[in-house]
Amino acid sequence: MAHVILRPGWHIKENATTSLAAYSNRRAFIKTLGLGGIGLSVGCSSGQARSINDPDGPLDTIPDNAPRDGYPASSNEAYTVKERVVTDRLVASSYNNFYEFINLGDLKVVWPHTGAYNPFPMTIQVTGHVEKKMRMDVADLIRTMPLEERLYRFRCVEAWSMTVPWTGFPLAELIKRCKPTSKATHVRFVSANRPDEMPGLASAHWYPWPYFEGLRMDEAMNELAFVATGMYGEPLPKQNGSPLRIVLPWKYGYKGAKAVVRLEFVRRQPKTFWNELQPNEYGFLSNVNPFVPHLRWSQASERFLSTLNTEERIPTQIFNGYDEWVGALYPDTPRTLTKGIVR
Ligand code: MTE
Repeated sequence: MAHVILRPGWHIKENATTSLAAYSNRRAFIKTLGLGGIGLSVGCSSGQARSINDPDGPLDTIPDNAPRDGYPASSNEAYTVKERVVTDRLVASSYNNFYEFINLGDLKVVWPHTGAYNPFPMTIQVTGHVEKKMRMDVADLIRTMPLEERLYRFRCVEAWSMTVPWTGFPLAELIKRCKPTSKATHVRFVSANRPDEMPGLASAHWYPWPYFEGLRMDEAMNELAFVATGMYGEPLPKQNGSPLRIVLPWKYGYKGAKAVVRLEFVRRQPKTFWNELQPNEYGFLSNVNPFVPHLRWSQASERFLSTLNTEERIPTQIFNGYDEWVGALYPDTPRTLTKGIVR
């Protein structure tokens, strides 16, 4: 197993990870070579090959049968971002992490590998400590939820960030429908496991699939916790987590599971995917905190990605700027530079 990559992309030193500018310039370079669509077209198991240089490719992955009622949803002005511009939607849909579609050549280029994935229909199962176990058709669920748009900061543990307008509904509304009993202290999220549609499940067979995450109940019920069904006024592109994903703007991005198919209400803190793989680097809470460096890089600042060729380094804010909403949930959060803490 020594040759196997057990660590996520961010295992690579920060200065060795692809910057968005380098990434888009490389794409431009490949384009000038005229290679797009020939040597570099990416095959999908459905036989639908797409060139990674197709400029519309990342936005063409919105499933045709995704429910569109209620789009574009009206924006909820209580959740906006004043100090940063909105990230270009092409950036948000072409620079991704979704290891079920992993491309070992370039971890961030996810969308060309989603051709065989059909997120609709999909069923969500509700299990564990609930009044009644149930199953919900995701499209029906989306149609019955009042959709709203929220502009949130999005911070990856790899020290890059975006500002994204999500469409969806509060996670608390979904949890109320699930009717957890008082025994439930945590909720566990499990992502889709479709080997025929998700090439990464086989090509990165060493990961403990399916992807799993978890929250304490008070975190899950916080008003910021959101279930995204869309972004930029349209249903989610496949690579962004269609048919629905969890968005937790005060936590590092990996806490928000994509393509969630199971909510399990449990009595103790559940295991989580990256914590299971690298417990000394990825904790359960994983709140954004500039005072708690990653084992191998600082979290004091981040590369803010706005357009395909623009990024700037900006200071990271505690709880990603959401201290007012969530600070009270974590009274012992370090607020001065600390070393060696994984929470
Ligand atoms: N969910 C699943 N099921 N699989 C994944 O690989 N990656 C996580 C998170 N959710 C991931 C996932 C990570 S590391 C990040 S940073 C965000 O999704 C990336 O979301 P984005 O691609 O929409 O920016």
